[in-house]
Amino acid sequence: MEYRPLGRSGLNVSVISIGTWAIGGENWGKVDDQDSIAAIREAIDQGVNFIDTADIYGKGHAEEIVAQAIEGRRHEVIIATKVGNRWNERGEVWPDCSYDYIMQAVQASLKRLRTDYIDVYLIHRPDPNTPIQETMRALEKLYRDGVVRAVGVSRYSREQIEEAQRCLDLHVAQYPLSIFRRKEITPILPFCRGHNIGVMAYAPLAKGLLTGKFDENTTFPENDLRAHSPMFQGEAFKRRLEAVDKLKPIAAKYGKTLAQLAINWNLCQPGVTTALVGVKTPAQVAENVGGAGWRLSPEDLKAIDEIVAGLTDLDK
Ligand SMILES: NC(=O)c1ccc[n+]([C@@H]2O[C@H](COP(=O)([O-])OP(=O)(O)OC[C@H]3O[C@@H](n4cnc5c(N)ncnc54)[C@H](OP(=O)(O)O)[C@@H]3O)[C@@H](O)[C@H]2O)c1
Repeated sequence: MEYRPLGRSGLNVSVISIGTWAIGGENWGKVDDQDSIAAIREAIDQGVNFIDTADIYGKGHAEEIVAQAIEGRRHEVIIATKVGNRWNERGEVWPDCSYDYIMQAVQASLKRLRTDYIDVYLIHRPDPNTPIQETMRALEKLYRDGVVRAVGVSRYSREQIEEAQRCLDLHVAQYPLSIFRRKEITPILPFCRGHNIGVMAYAPLAKGLLTGKFDENTTFPENDLRAHSPMFQGEAFKRRLEAVDKLKPIAAKYGKTLAQLAINWNLCQPGVTTALVGVKTPAQVAENVGGAGWRLSPEDLKAIDEIVAGLTDLDK
């Protein structure tokens, strides 16, 4: 495994990090907790030291699974968790990045993660009802008190991240990035490079599409978000499946799988610190770690762009 400094945080993270959204057990079809725990352990065994979760993933469940998986190995891992999606017993979810809510939510995350510090604490998404200054005041307090070791934001627009950075020095930013999805991170990468902010580029597999395991007859259960995602419907899905087929010979040239090519593509984008890939099973982890340790050539990066021309950024 390769490691890179996460901005100026002082943390050194694996270039492949693992995501636990699906492990939360909601929105991704069938998920088995024992597989999830085994997947996280496999990742650590393979040298992955960076685990991403959020309080909202499975409404606390993903954080609890992470705690079980890392029992006795807390010192081996850097945990990123997020705040800002609040929920109630009825299952309603709404944005809340107010000072008071963050102070309350961080205690709940610490308890579920069974730890007394969080390595990386991220604001999950912008909250239109809370001034950014107020949200950053909460992060600064937690950082100063040593409750969290690094702070950052996710999915803030360029204007919003600039405003946040004027309030405090951010260590990390988290944005979507894959061969099929580029537009959100494009204006952010130069800003992060300029301010030495580490970048977690998430969903390199385009929710599994870039593994090559789907075909035109693939269907998803109702409780799988891909059943409703525009990228997985009708003509849009068909055209992307055709593009994925055309990527296969490029991966084969390197003796790599499509998933490994897709992850490596993220790592080739200047400014990206780590490719954050979601997993459900140890077998997926074992494949995905092969996305590191090699590099697509400039010619192949260009060929990939040509194959997907006109097919990027359908999904918001
Ligand atoms: N900050 C934010 O707002 C935000 C938003 C989204 C995600 N994230 C983070 O980023 C992480 C990654 O994003 P993502 O999970 O949405 O998308 P992703 O990484 O593109 O796709 C992950 C999914 O692909 C499938 N998969 C993974 N490895 C595979 C392999 N080797 N072969 C076949 N299938 C494989 C698994 O689902 P199946 O087995 O069901 O196909 C897995 O759940 C999340 O888990 C989360 O931690 C953050």
